[in-house]
Amino acid sequence: MDISSKNEVKQLINGIKASDGDGVQLTRLIGSANLMQLDPFLLFDAFGSDQPQDYIGGFPPHPHRGFETVTYMLAGKMRHQDSAGNSGVIEADGVQWMTAGKGIIHSEMPEQEQGLLAGFQLWVNLPAKDKMTEPKYQEKSADDISQEIREGSQLKVVSGTTQQGTQGVIKNDTIAPIYWDIKLTKQHNFSDVIPCTHNAFIYIISGEVIIGDKKTKVQQGQLATLTHADSLSIWANYDSRFLLIAGKPLNEPVERAGPFVMNTREEIEQAFADYQRGEFA
Ligand code: FE2
Repeated sequence: MDISSKNEVKQLINGIKASDGDGVQLTRLIGSANLMQLDPFLLFDAFGSDQPQDYIGGFPPHPHRGFETVTYMLAGKMRHQDSAGNSGVIEADGVQWMTAGKGIIHSEMPEQEQGLLAGFQLWVNLPAKDKMTEPKYQEKSADDISQEIREGSQLKVVSGTTQQGTQGVIKNDTIAPIYWDIKLTKQHNFSDVIPCTHNAFIYIISGEVIIGDKKTKVQQGQLATLTHADSLSIWANYDSRFLLIAGKPLNEPVERAGPFVMNTREEIEQAFADYQRGEFA
């Protein structure tokens, strides 16, 4: 890689329509045939609708083991509750970073009967040594999340540190994640640095951007995985909003089945057995 290399688009993903939980309509961008995973990310879903029938069923109680679930809301309210006695409501621009670890049963239900509900769920893998860790939470509201204002752009820094030194509130030493929500005014450029060790993607919430020296166009609703390089450069064709997410890959074997993600088939079977014995409750 030469000194001036820029992150380019590696793969453009349109996502597929899916239904999860009790009939929640969503678009799956990571975790389906087009892109099964982008180590350490196992799943990335976008949901957004002002039609209650698309979300009212929510995600009734279900288990997780072996990874982390990250919910980031753009609009509306979601109530979560779990077998460890935690509960709360995530609102617009708020985040919940849940380490399921050795096992949790939780529910995520809309705290509204009408209006717009929109947001994302990201699954972050845990390394073998941490898969059976105690569950834990990092939950932050919009007010807790640092903002950075630049010429033509505005960032919410959920996790990671920008070149200008703004630090995110979510900590994760294993994958050292970047999770930025960026608004970029049309005809402006955004640049920063993603560590060379990290796998990265952007997801366009609204607008249209041009990435890298190859000038690849990425449109609303598309996810673009990025090559490794030492400088990220994004140009907005229109007023745009997008997420930039990156993390250090684990480079470990992945065995997944439904709500469990482990390293081996035996560990998956053990997870089902433990869940059936009621060990998650
Ligand atoms: Fe869940």
